[in-house]
Amino acid sequence: MLFIWFFLFSFMTRTSTSLDRLEVNQSIRDGETLVSAGGIIEVGFFSPGNSTRRYFGVWYKNVSPLTVVWVANRNTPLENKSGVLKLNEKGIIVLLNATNSTLWSSSNISSKARNNATAHLLDSGNFVVKHGHKTNSVLWQSFDYPGNTLMQGMKLGWDLETGLERSISSWKSVEDPAEGEYVIRIDLRGYPQMIEFKGFDIIFRSGSWNGLSTVGYPAPVNLSLPKFVFNEKEVYYEFEILDSSVFAIFTLAPSGAGQRIFWTTQTTTRQVISTQAQDQCEIYAFCGANSICSYVDNQATCECLRGYVPKSPDQWNIAIWLGGCVQKNISNCEIRYTDGFLKYRHMKLPDTSSSWFNKTMNLGECQKSCLKNCSCTAYANLDIRNGGSGCLLWFNILVDMRNFSLWGQDFYIRVPASELDDTGNRKIKKKIVGITVGVTTFGLIITCLCIFMVKNPGAVRKFYNKHYNNIKRMQDLDLPTFNLSVLTKATRNFSSENKLGEGGFGPVYKGTLIDGKEIAVKRLSKKSVQGLDEFKNEVALIAKLQHRNLVKLLGCCIEGEEKMLIYEYMPNQSLDYFVFDETKRKFLDWGKRLNIIIGIARGLLYLHQDSRLRIIHRDLKTSNILLDENLDPKISDFGLARSFLGDQVEANTNRVAGTYGYMPPEYAARGHFSVKSDVFSYGVIVLEIVSGKKNREFSDPEHYNNLLGHAWRLWTEQRSLDLLDEVLGEPCTPFEVIRCIQVGLLCVQQRPEDRPDMSSVVLMLNCDKELPKPKVPGFYTETDAKPDANSSFANHKPYSVNELSITMLDAR
Ligand SMILES: *[C@@H]1O[C@H](CO)[C@@H](O)[C@H](O)[C@H]1NC(C)=O
Ligand SMILES: *[C@@H]1O[C@H](CO)[C@@H](O)[C@H](O)[C@H]1NC(C)=O
Ligand SMILES: *[C@@H]1O[C@H](CO)[C@@H](O)[C@H](O)[C@H]1NC(C)=O
Ligand SMILES: *[C@@H]1O[C@H](CO)[C@@H](O)[C@H](O)[C@H]1NC(C)=O
Ligand SMILES: *[C@@H]1O[C@H](CO)[C@@H](O)[C@H](O)[C@H]1NC(C)=O
Ligand SMILES: *[C@@H]1O[C@H](CO)[C@@H](O)[C@H](O)[C@H]1NC(C)=O
Ligand SMILES: *[C@@H]1O[C@H](CO)[C@@H](O)[C@H](O)[C@H]1NC(C)=O
Ligand SMILES: *[C@@H]1O[C@H](CO)[C@@H](O)[C@H](O)[C@H]1NC(C)=O
Ligand SMILES: *[C@@H]1O[C@H](CO)[C@@H](O)[C@H](O)[C@H]1NC(C)=O
Ligand SMILES: *[C@@H]1O[C@H](CO)[C@@H](O)[C@H](O)[C@H]1NC(C)=O
Ligand SMILES: *[C@@H]1O[C@H](CO)[C@@H](O)[C@H](O)[C@H]1NC(C)=O
Ligand SMILES: *[C@@H]1O[C@H](CO)[C@@H](O)[C@H](O)[C@H]1NC(C)=O
Repeated sequence: MLFIWFFLFSFMTRTSTSLDRLEVNQSIRDGETLVSAGGIIEVGFFSPGNSTRRYFGVWYKNVSPLTVVWVANRNTPLENKSGVLKLNEKGIIVLLNATNSTLWSSSNISSKARNNATAHLLDSGNFVVKHGHKTNSVLWQSFDYPGNTLMQGMKLGWDLETGLERSISSWKSVEDPAEGEYVIRIDLRGYPQMIEFKGFDIIFRSGSWNGLSTVGYPAPVNLSLPKFVFNEKEVYYEFEILDSSVFAIFTLAPSGAGQRIFWTTQTTTRQVISTQAQDQCEIYAFCGANSICSYVDNQATCECLRGYVPKSPDQWNIAIWLGGCVQKNISNCEIRYTDGFLKYRHMKLPDTSSSWFNKTMNLGECQKSCLKNCSCTAYANLDIRNGGSGCLLWFNILVDMRNFSLWGQDFYIRVPASELDDTGNRKIKKKIVGITVGVTTFGLIITCLCIFMVKNPGAVRKFYNKHYNNIKRMQDLDLPTFNLSVLTKATRNFSSENKLGEGGFGPVYKGTLIDGKEIAVKRLSKKSVQGLDEFKNEVALIAKLQHRNLVKLLGCCIEGEEKMLIYEYMPNQSLDYFVFDETKRKFLDWGKRLNIIIGIARGLLYLHQDSRLRIIHRDLKTSNILLDENLDPKISDFGLARSFLGDQVEANTNRVAGTYGYMPPEYAARGHFSVKSDVFSYGVIVLEIVSGKKNREFSDPEHYNNLLGHAWRLWTEQRSLDLLDEVLGEPCTPFEVIRCIQVGLLCVQQRPEDRPDMSSVVLMLNCDKELPKPKVPGFYTETDAKPDANSSFANHKPYSVNELSITMLDAR
């Protein structure tokens, strides 16, 4: 009897499915499962749909159809039933196939061996690895790595301290749990919001959190209570189920539709509520910019915000809304202090990715700060509970708005005073004008001035101009500033692995911000000759220069001694890295090289003539030309020479900034520079791109010429095509090649006044008219370089032979 009892007992413990944990070295084979203590959740191997592949996952035990909420090896399926899941002695769960290869493992947060780890399946659906049997020492948990399902207690969002992102992504199909196209995640730009992406495109935005729910996506309030937590450590959404006899989960279907699925303890069959994309207004930016979507009588229509008109009225009239709306009168900041605000009710607030927020401001303060900033277009309360609190401001365009008949919140858009007059609604007008005058000091000043002006117009204009200039100065500093701590984190404490190179004025590091955006951080090493304010102004002005052939300055960081500039990151590094490299230069066929030559010319033209600053680069060279992912050129380091050297160079001291090989003779010799100095450097770059050789290191064996001299000699001998980089083979458009060489030679002429300016260069590259004949280039040294009997010259480096005593301030 005892024997039978013993037999039965041991049989039960071995095959029983009532175990809810795994100890070290224990494993689960296909067919075996763990069941949570309350009998609600089960974990084991399964096959989705009609598939024969095996996955290890977590599902609800007594619900049909099979409701899988988490899959371990979603991207690495098992082909047959020979899989084993094991808790190893390090406390890591590993999934092995028949040949003991690890198909999947729980992440290795703690690398130390954890002898006493146990894997525990909880009734919440969380599969956790704990240290010993203590409840609060979680080493790893499946809730940190969501699949396509959000359950009660799971967080959707970011741990800002560790950078861990928890997002949910759809399955490829009902039979394939692999990561599909759709992802729901918290976007950290501006005020955090929940967004559904298809690849890189936003397809749906549930809206920002307003204290009760996400505006555009109200939760069924009697089923679950959504929550949003946002502090320095974490940003996440979660939900709590109010009735403990109800189960509810949120799943992202393979089609991209979000589904709420619920059932009760009584009914084991589940019900699906599809809650997303019920109408076209839910589609992201269905109406384009600055326009409100309205769904009435089963039809979505778009309407421009007041003060805006359709961008392309023809399309708008035939219900093609995508173009959106633009401002009717582009009012400039000068008169914008007379702007007012118009209230819209029951709104889903626009995309907050370019917003700014403050949790403590009230609505009045919010309006004030919106009015102060020229690019602020709208504001609203952050939290609508208890009469409203907090402040959200939007800048520039407003995207993805709709109105509702029941929910939504109040939203205030900025409109010029003329629009307020148009309303014909005296009450609104009076109120808004009242607020504007009452609340803003600018309003007051202007009102006072108006009275004053009648008496003394000249003095008033003077006063106003002074005041206005101050305001303008303030706005010129509209440059984002980054915290040193953020940059330190992004560049891993400026580690040497992250160092991209040593640029002018300091090293450059690659950084990755917490939202994944890549940046390049230039840590300025030289002391600026300018004061801090002057420096800030200068940087803000540089940031205003925007052109497709200039590297974009994203912001700066000034803390204590540290000064940094943050640029967009260029994956392909710089031109010298390509054009002088044995293997890489093969990627630059003639078409690409021509594109680079033209691109640099355009960028330089913008710096010299089209921007409002008129910048002379002063240190143009191949390593300052960066290449983006399409190998389009972008000029970097512009505008810095002025900040760092001031006008000392102009004042003709002995200090010269620049790089040998690219410096024009008048600059190297006399420190004299002008736009034509940049033209010279450009000419050198053109000849370098065509030939694939460095001017500085080039030596032509017969004549001891530098590259310029060599190009000139070939030109005079009418053999210009010989200059072309030999890896390109026979050129199919010799005409273009010769034209580029000719332009290059024109640019490097000895006398600055002979060189063309950049607008002529751009023209010359693009037309096929006859070009002027180039004269002898600067630094052309054939006569004095003839070796003949001059044996001492053989020891000379064969480049830049002018003997000059100059102080190199910034040679790399
Ligand atoms: C687990 O297995 C390893 C190797 O077989 C063994 O060294 C270790 O002592 C075992 N640990 C436990 C807790 O049984
Ligand atoms: C599985 O196969 C059956 C019969 O072939 C079919 O009716 C059913 O739609 C399939 N299920 C899935 C999820 O493809
Ligand atoms: C699974 O496949 C492997 C080889 O593909 C085979 O060795 C093993 O016996 C199979 N296991 C089962 C349970 O079919
Ligand atoms: C086990 O996985 C490894 C690596 O993925 C693979 O090479 C091997 O063929 C698999 N073995 C079986 C029996 O499937
Ligand atoms: C896989 O590991 C188990 C246990 O360690 C061992 O018994 C088995 O022989 C191994 N199989 C292979 C193919 O190495
Ligand atoms: C485990 O750690 C290594 C090295 O730190 C890392 O490369 C690997 O991705 C980690 N594995 C998981 C599953 O996180
Ligand atoms: C591990 O468990 C053993 C007995 O089960 C115990 O003696 C030991 O103290 C535990 N170690 C830790 C680190 O908890
Ligand atoms: C939730 O409330 C609505 C109306 O307020 C009602 O129709 C619905 O049945 C309720 N749902 C549940 C699960 O109680
Ligand atoms: C706005 O534009 C309209 C015509 O488009 C013009 O009549 C009106 O004067 C403009 N208002 C302002 C304030 O510029
Ligand atoms: C938010 O506004 C309050 C009150 O105006 C101010 O004291 C606080 O510094 C602001 N916070 C931020 C982060 O701007
Ligand atoms: C949205 O606004 C438009 C225009 O003001 C109005 O015609 C429409 O009824 C509103 N839609 C809803 C759902 O209230
Ligand atoms: C205006 O708003 C932009 C965008 O947030 C901000 O960078 C800038 O500092 C603001 N300007 C002023 C004067 O507050």
